[in-house]
Amino acid sequence: MKKHWHDIIKEKKEKVLGQELDHPVRILAIETSCDETSVAIVEDGQKVLANVVSSQIEIHKRFGGVVPEVASRKHVEGINYILEESLQEAHLTLDKINAIAVTNGPGLIGALLVGLAAAKAIAFAKGIPLIGVHHIAGHIYANHLVRPLEFPLIALVVSGGHTELIYMKDHLEFELLGETRDDAAGEAYDKVARALQLPYPGGPHIDRLAKQGNPIIPLPRALMDESYDFSFSGLKSAVINTLHHARQRGEEVKKEDMAASFQEAVVDVLVEKTFRAVVNKDVKHLVLAGGVAANSRLRERLMEKAEELGVRLTIPPLSLCTDNAAMIASVGYYLYIQGKWSSLDLNGIASLPLSTL
Ligand code: KG4
Ligand code: ZN
Repeated sequence: MKKHWHDIIKEKKEKVLGQELDHPVRILAIETSCDETSVAIVEDGQKVLANVVSSQIEIHKRFGGVVPEVASRKHVEGINYILEESLQEAHLTLDKINAIAVTNGPGLIGALLVGLAAAKAIAFAKGIPLIGVHHIAGHIYANHLVRPLEFPLIALVVSGGHTELIYMKDHLEFELLGETRDDAAGEAYDKVARALQLPYPGGPHIDRLAKQGNPIIPLPRALMDESYDFSFSGLKSAVINTLHHARQRGEEVKKEDMAASFQEAVVDVLVEKTFRAVVNKDVKHLVLAGGVAANSRLRERLMEKAEELGVRLTIPPLSLCTDNAAMIASVGYYLYIQGKWSSLDLNGIASLPLSTL
């Protein structure tokens, strides 16, 4: 009788934990937590052999945001092709893969389940480990694909769904210092962009307009004293109210000035809290992650301050800042070598906490 998957995996884990590792360790990772379907193959946590990303943004654009049910369906349609493409790009077959890593949260539950089903099927069929990866850990490890992470570090994760400050003492040790209490930074950008009648996603449009305007409109900055938490909904409401009142008075607010004022308010808060954490935790390495890391003003201000304080700042290229599976594979490698493998009943969890790694 053929051996059961669990027994094969148990033997493999004993070997990985008990002996010298055979390098390279190749992890194939799948990411489907939101609106990007992505499959990547990465060696030893750092060398990207393939990172295929298929964005659904054009489809969701017409709805002004991501429609979860549409996202799930598009993942189902695309996943097999993208898997095939990644293997071709890496010139490999599945027999050369040591383990399958997959994002199991946080994210849209229906979208996560598509990636999980694919990952489980491959792991089971090939008799290789399945490794669940936290999406935010992935965003942080995008930096590791550029330059090795140096500990301790502070990570600022800013995207359409996240605004988090994380302290890391070592690989896979995450301490959440603060997060948004309402809207994520990117979400605030997208909502303000909507109020200014700009297309979705609005971040890049506001960034562009801000360069042509002046930050002369007074807007609030929610610094909330000593906390590392963020809040952007008050700022968003202030923008909407200002636009509304101006319209009632028949006055015109220059879009460029509103974009510049809003951007300055967001960046002020992000920079202030990030460096408060850097100083208080006495770290020498700061890493940035998530789609909002593309923001030109945020980059500029972080670079200035990092230089002033002698802190090393890493900002991944845009292709690694937005959702991709290479970052998931990088985390997957460290979970692999530490034997933190998942069972076949691994589930998708929409609000998975980072501490569960
Ligand atoms: O990481 P990401 O691609 O998807 C999520 O996981 O959310 O981030 C997308 C977010 C959107 O809210 C978008 O408006 C924002 O990143 N974004 C920007 C810029 N480019 C993208 N926000 C501000 N400035 C930008 N240049
Ligand atoms: Zn993301």
